[in-house]
Amino acid sequence: MIDEQDIFGVENERVLDVEKTSYDEVENILRPKSMEGYVGQEKVKDNLVVFMKSAKMRGEALDHVLLYGPPGLGKTTLAHIIASEMGSQIKVTSGPSIEKAGDLAAILTNLNDGDVLFIDEIHRLNHNIEEILYPAMEDFSLDFIIGKGPSARSVQIPLKKFTLIGATTKAGMLSSPLRDRFGVLLRLELYSTDELKEIACRSSKTLGIDIEDDAAKEIAMRSRGTPRIVNRLLKRVRDFSFVLGHNSILLDDAKLALSRLEIDELGLDSIDRALLKSMIEKFNGGPVGLETLAATINEDVTTLEDVYEPYLLQLGFISRTNRGRVCTKKAYEHLNIKCPHLDIQTSIFDEN
Ligand SMILES: Nc1ncnc2c1ncn2[C@@H]1O[C@H](COP(=O)(O)OP(=O)(O)OP(=O)(O)O)[C@@H](O)[C@H]1O
Ligand SMILES: [Mg+2]
Repeated sequence: MIDEQDIFGVENERVLDVEKTSYDEVENILRPKSMEGYVGQEKVKDNLVVFMKSAKMRGEALDHVLLYGPPGLGKTTLAHIIASEMGSQIKVTSGPSIEKAGDLAAILTNLNDGDVLFIDEIHRLNHNIEEILYPAMEDFSLDFIIGKGPSARSVQIPLKKFTLIGATTKAGMLSSPLRDRFGVLLRLELYSTDELKEIACRSSKTLGIDIEDDAAKEIAMRSRGTPRIVNRLLKRVRDFSFVLGHNSILLDDAKLALSRLEIDELGLDSIDRALLKSMIEKFNGGPVGLETLAATINEDVTTLEDVYEPYLLQLGFISRTNRGRVCTKKAYEHLNIKCPHLDIQTSIFDEN
């Protein structure tokens, strides 16, 4: 008997969510540990290899690195790989978890030469805490003002030569003084189907189960260009294979599991489809304002913008106009709905 809770996860969590959820309990096991195991992102890897080699040849710490791009594309994974390839210790923290200036000062003064300090969600650092990072990154020193008024004096504490790796999904929210202090800025891109298929095959191996080539491809095609989603769907498909008594993951298992999860061949789930449908049926395909749209799927505007919209925009199913979001001809076609204002839709789409 297939237990729905096991297969579908915790209620109200979306299997296609790009953010981490309780589905990702074994994420650490599936993280590649070396550059060879890190699939795709060839441009990023090629450049990093050069920068790391040069730093090693000079006997210096690697320059500070900013990794940015959508959730689940491998920023945290890459930060750990960089530290391991540099032979460095890594200290992991995140923007929201550093509450006081003293917290950051304590972390910085405990770093050794060549250590990596990884700050996840670096765009969420408080401004007054961020300011401590400026001299730390530039001159490897902590600058303090002691006392007040005329007797105030500045004190500098030297720091060891460390590497800061910052990760963010919102590079635009980073202040420019902080952004400018990173010597290496690397943008991670969505993955191709072939790359995602390779990740599915590698992850199956780690999970100790064989996978048919076609099954891996099927999962890859529905994973929205995102390794985190590949791994999550793979685990759900594996559950079906197990329960069905198969020794390896077959194409039919993948098709069955993905249709039970209501994920279509482009990776859209029932919420994406409901969103497009309501744009078409209630708002004549748009334009419709973000707030109104968010209300139709019972979500807030930020979730709509961060979670649902990027992939629909990437597929070219919706477009942004001055007056709101518009469904494109492609969306009508995908949902098999006749587009009544084909010319208008196309012209609105063409303008953007
Ligand atoms: N290039 C890759 N090759 C193989 N697996 C990958 C790759 N990138 C990511 N993964 C897998 O995807 C999962 C999610 O990656 P990771 O946590 O590094 O993403 P992230 O960009 O840090 O996400 P977030 O923005 O939510 O913090 C990892 O557990 C890892 O297994
Ligand atoms: Mg991360």
